[in-house]
Amino acid sequence: MKTPRLSKKQGFWAAVLGAAALGLLAYRQRKPAKLMSFLDFPEGFVWGAATSAYQVEGGISNDWSAAGLDAGQAADHYHRYAEDFGHAQEMGHNAHRLSLEWARIEPEPGRFDDAAIAHYRHVLQDLHAKGLTPFVTLWHFTQPQWFAQLGGWQREENIASFLAYVRYVVTALQDLVPYWITLNEPIVYAFQAYEEGLWPPFEKERSQALQVAGHLLLAHGRAFHLIHELQPQAQVGLVKNMTALAPAQVWSPLSLLATRLQHRLFNEACWQALVSGKLSLKVPQLGEVKIDPSEGLKGTLDFIGINYYTRNLVNGRGELRTRRKARTSELGWEIYPEGLLQMLRQLKPYARKLKVPVYITENGLADAQDAQRSQFLLEHLAVLWQAIQEGIPVKGYFHWSLMDNFEWAEGFEPRFGLMDMSRRWRPSAEVYREIARHNGFPLYWLSIKRKLRRRASAAALQHSHQKGITLKE
Ligand code: FCB
Repeated sequence: MKTPRLSKKQGFWAAVLGAAALGLLAYRQRKPAKLMSFLDFPEGFVWGAATSAYQVEGGISNDWSAAGLDAGQAADHYHRYAEDFGHAQEMGHNAHRLSLEWARIEPEPGRFDDAAIAHYRHVLQDLHAKGLTPFVTLWHFTQPQWFAQLGGWQREENIASFLAYVRYVVTALQDLVPYWITLNEPIVYAFQAYEEGLWPPFEKERSQALQVAGHLLLAHGRAFHLIHELQPQAQVGLVKNMTALAPAQVWSPLSLLATRLQHRLFNEACWQALVSGKLSLKVPQLGEVKIDPSEGLKGTLDFIGINYYTRNLVNGRGELRTRRKARTSELGWEIYPEGLLQMLRQLKPYARKLKVPVYITENGLADAQDAQRSQFLLEHLAVLWQAIQEGIPVKGYFHWSLMDNFEWAEGFEPRFGLMDMSRRWRPSAEVYREIARHNGFPLYWLSIKRKLRRRASAAALQHSHQKGITLKE
């Protein structure tokens, strides 16, 4: 007789639910079963939310606004930052990821604006006063219009302008910033702006994308050395998007090959380059990018930042698709928590070679009604917990985002916030608050989906009390 076999996904959830059932059973028999029933995160785990300047601050003129993608007043975080950090503090966060707006700080080449830097000093002081450790991104997709006019990241010589900005900022703010992130998702930016033509400067010159990605990596390496020169104790990292990829047609060698290629290009090449110090990548139709070991890229990381959102299927032509009938967010992105574990497993050898910790610097979904966010959070944090048990050194998690904001070419429609624009908490913010406060959550929360969808934490807590389960001792 043929034994029925579980798919990987079924196997994974069977294991999670099995563990939950065992935990409850042991509890009923009054046996100590804390390990089974509570997903405990390591002591000192970093809990926070992430934002970026252009998406939340408002009142910024840069290459995006000049190109017609104007964020206007955005979430007015420029004026409301203290109130916003108050919310983050109330949500139990102990850290916050934000970015600085280069265009505010250096409105003309070589002219640095003292008032802009004074503003960011206040912002950072406020974070410290509220017990929130700042993780500060220096570049998050936007640049001053003058930099774009010089040819932006297409020209290697322009990296010097970025470094001048980094020098000014790090000199001025180093006493307030323990963690610097040089760049956010350089490869995503290179392809969206230079291959897909969706972001300024809207190029569809495929060969440019790889060049731009190469220049951004060089910029990262040089900025890493510069920051350490100015602030030896700084922790400096790079944030990269990792997307789970699977063949759209498992029977098609072309689809398999295209998946492999995309995985190497989007998920692996960057880490390989940072471990070895060299990059030599030739992609059909995209051309070639090379980085020589003499560039000093090797080991330029004190920590790794991963943004994880979704899984894509890759067809034989290398096009990305969403699985049919997949559970999706309002942007149509598949909700696929297992992919986070897969990506962290892929990353493990690199983190080990570099001997650096990993932070999840973004993870979240567009969900205006908050119908899926609590469950999304729990499922992703459950796999994160699993990754930690497997020895992957994950030290923190930042949810994207603290409040609704300007989602690039998609505008204001997608709602990624734990709060909406008027700073009303979505119910999932309470769930996240309980998790952050208790540094984990009871495993059975994963199985009370419906209650968690709405009055999430209230229902879960009440249930815990009725059953006599203390969240944590
Ligand atoms: C990431 C970006 C971030 C936000 C989320 C939804 O790729 O880094 O700014 O837009 O996607």
